[in-house]
Amino acid sequence: MTENFQRFLSNDTGEEERFQESRLRPEGFEEYIGQSKVVENIHVMVESSNIRQQAMDHALLSGPPGLGKTSLAMLVAKALGSELHVISGPAIEKKGDLAAILTNLQPRDVLFIDEIHRMHISVEEILYSAMEDFRLDIVIGQGPSARTMQIEVSPFTLIGATTRSGLLSNPLRTRFMANLHFDFYQPEELAKIISNNAQKLNLEVESDALSHMAKCSRGTPRIANRILRRVRDFALVDGGNKINEEQVLKSLSLMEIDEYGLDRMDRKILSVILDYYGGGPVGIDALCATLAEDRSTIEDVFEPFLLKEGFLIRTPRGREISEKAKEHIAKYSN
Ligand SMILES: Nc1ncnc2c1ncn2[C@@H]1O[C@H](COP(=O)(O)OP(=O)(O)O)[C@@H](O)[C@H]1O
Ligand SMILES: [Mg+2]
Repeated sequence: MTENFQRFLSNDTGEEERFQESRLRPEGFEEYIGQSKVVENIHVMVESSNIRQQAMDHALLSGPPGLGKTSLAMLVAKALGSELHVISGPAIEKKGDLAAILTNLQPRDVLFIDEIHRMHISVEEILYSAMEDFRLDIVIGQGPSARTMQIEVSPFTLIGATTRSGLLSNPLRTRFMANLHFDFYQPEELAKIISNNAQKLNLEVESDALSHMAKCSRGTPRIANRILRRVRDFALVDGGNKINEEQVLKSLSLMEIDEYGLDRMDRKILSVILDYYGGGPVGIDALCATLAEDRSTIEDVFEPFLLKEGFLIRTPRGREISEKAKEHIAKYSN
C-alpha cells in the first residue's frame, strides 16, 4: 500500500494535518520569521551553550497554538547539534515513564514537553530535581521500608511549551531560566511566511492574494498555512499553479473566515455574549456552559485573539463585547 493510499484511508485528520505541517516547517533560523525578541534570546542561549559545550539552559515557550513553539524547539536542537525528544505532558501517565525518558537522554539533548501545564502533578515532581541537579529522586517501596534512590541524568535542556505560562505551578515555572512569550504575527510577517511556503509548494501568488491571506490568518502561521493549502486546491482545480485574489475569497468563504480572520466559533462567542447576556459582562464559566465548550479551549485558543483585536474586553465582572464586535455581528448576520 502506498503511503498516500494509507493516508487517504486514515480518518485521523490530526495525523494528516501533522504530516502537511511538517512539510512547511522552517528548516533553519533564516526561515523562521518574526518573534524577534524570542529568537534573539534563544540565539544567545544556543550560542553560549555551544561555546561552553554544556547543556543549554531550560526555556519555557508560551503563547496561543500555532505560533511556532514546536518549530522553534526543533531549530534549537538542530543548532545545538543535539537530538530532540518530543513528548506531550498529559500523555505521560506514570512517574516511571518520565524517568525512563530522562535516563535515556544523551548530554546536551533537548527534551520538548508540549502542554507542560497539563502534566500530572506526581509526574511533574520528578522534573524538579532533574532540571535543577540532573538527578532523579525515586522512592522505592512504601511505608517504613520505603527508601529514596538517586539516579544521575545527563545534563539536558528542557523546553516546555504552554498556552499560558500562568497555568504552570510555581516550582516548575521558577526552574526555567528563560520564560519566552510568543505574540500574534503582523500581516507582513505572515505574508512572508505564506510566500516562502508557496514556493515550497510550487505556487505563484499574486500580491493582492498574498496580502489578503495574510490579513485573514488570525495572526497565526498555522492558520496561514491552512488557508494556503485550501487556496492551492482551488488553483489546481482551475488548472494552474498561480493563485489570485478571487480564489482566496472563495476559499475563505468556504472556510467561513471573515475579513478580520474570525471563524465561526469566534463569531459564535461574540454573538452568544450579545444574545444571551446583553453584551456582557458575563463570567467565563457561564459563557462556556452556554457555548458547551471547555473553559481552557475558550481561554487559551479563542480569547487571546479576540482580546487583542478589541472585539472582547475583560472586566473584573467578566467578559464584555465591544462596539466593534457589535457592528461586526450586525454586518455578518445580514
Ligand atoms: N516563525 C515562523 N516562521 C515560519 N513559519 C512558522 C513560524 N511559526 C510557525 N510557523 C508555521 O506554522 C506551523 C505551526 O507552528 P508550530 O511550531 O507547530 O506551532 P505551535 O507549536 O506553537 O502550536 C509550522 O509548521 C510552520 O509551518
Ligand atoms: Mg506545537
